[in-house]
Amino acid sequence: QGTMEINENGELEIGNQNLVDIAEEYDTPLYIMDEKEIRKNCRAYREAFNKWYPNSQTLYASKAFLSVAMARIIDQEGLGLDVVSGGELSIALEADFPTEEIYFHGNNKTPQEIEQALEADIGYFVVDNNYELDLLNQMAEEYDKKPEILLRVTPGIEAHTHSYIQTGQTDSKFGLGIQNGLALEAIKKAVDLDNLNLVGIHCHIGSQIFKLESFAKAIDVMIEFIEEIHEEAGVVLEQLNLGGGIGIPYTEDEEKPDIEEYAKIVADEVKAVCDKLDLPLPKIINEPGRSIVGTAGSTLYEVGSIKEIPDVRKYVAVDGGMSDNIRPALYDADYEAIIPNKADQKPEEEVTITGKCCESGDIFIEDIELPTVETGDLLLISCTGAYGYSMSSNYNGLPRPGVLLVSEDNVDWIVKPETNQDLISNDVVPDRLKK
Ligand code: LLP
Repeated sequence: QGTMEINENGELEIGNQNLVDIAEEYDTPLYIMDEKEIRKNCRAYREAFNKWYPNSQTLYASKAFLSVAMARIIDQEGLGLDVVSGGELSIALEADFPTEEIYFHGNNKTPQEIEQALEADIGYFVVDNNYELDLLNQMAEEYDKKPEILLRVTPGIEAHTHSYIQTGQTDSKFGLGIQNGLALEAIKKAVDLDNLNLVGIHCHIGSQIFKLESFAKAIDVMIEFIEEIHEEAGVVLEQLNLGGGIGIPYTEDEEKPDIEEYAKIVADEVKAVCDKLDLPLPKIINEPGRSIVGTAGSTLYEVGSIKEIPDVRKYVAVDGGMSDNIRPALYDADYEAIIPNKADQKPEEEVTITGKCCESGDIFIEDIELPTVETGDLLLISCTGAYGYSMSSNYNGLPRPGVLLVSEDNVDWIVKPETNQDLISNDVVPDRLKK
């Protein structure tokens, strides 16, 4: 993945940095982000859309992975930002991210978050429901602002992906349904509200999607809805936000959707449907998260205990676990692993890689072929850049690993590793419990 290479000593490098040296200097476990790969993916989106549909903007979905330095890279690459909480917004603001390019998502924005976003003058609110329409309208009046909004709708598309990350269907906690009429009702209401400026609609049909035709289906429904809004509410919306969702290959046998092909499908479909319905072409927004950072990140561990159960399996445990990557336990997600200090050696045995958390489900990879694994070997799990660090926890009192940004010339922490001290930094002992 990315800039991974095996050097002349048979050791693995990322961005020309030897992982054996990195482990020695920075200690495991740690997340490694490949700067070149992040930038390459950002450019792939920009170039593809510039080529096929220039009236467009790509936003990076922060939830996949955000830190202040990451927000700086996204800004340098010319992408906008999708945030879903006051926390993500704070990180963006700390990075001095251009606020007019920030879209604020979420199905239950709190008054405090709305206040923060109004004060920061962010670009757009993606309003999820009627409660938020009223709240935002009222708060906008108090703050003497007229924010631009998009309404999140569900187009009734079932993307073929894990049900936990499927979001386009009518029965969803996100957005309002087109088919059941709730979306149109909310649009009419939004048009009438004095302190909001409705500019578009948004949908996100799911994540880790490989069938690009799913996006074309969503486009059909969304543009027909823009036409219906035109007829029923008398406004022509200028923005269509198609969300994120392009899949990445986590294992060798998975295909890699092509970003240029995606942009072309989007462009062709939008133009065809607008032409048919005689509508002006909208500005198209897309919001990839996983396909920007997924392949750019890996997690580097060290192997500790190895336990063989005769005729059953060999368990190889590493010094991290579901606390730094919940995806295998939560979604049954597949990953590949490599032993960086034996990167040129042939597979010799089948092992099961586990974490160190107190949970039987804390298994990273079942039955993977690897060179003979020994205690003290390094183990790299690739493609953990999206939803790895961002979904990490302190389960079992494990400090979160730090995030190292590597490139040809530099190796830098962009998130420092937590310490045991950090784990108690917010703890308070009431006097009556003091010893
Ligand atoms: N836009 C919206 C409104 C979203 O809800 C999401 C993801 C994205 C964009 C970015 O989607 P992406 O390009 O990353 O697929 N934790 C799960 C993924 C949850 C995705 C939630 N929303 C996982 O680890 O697979």
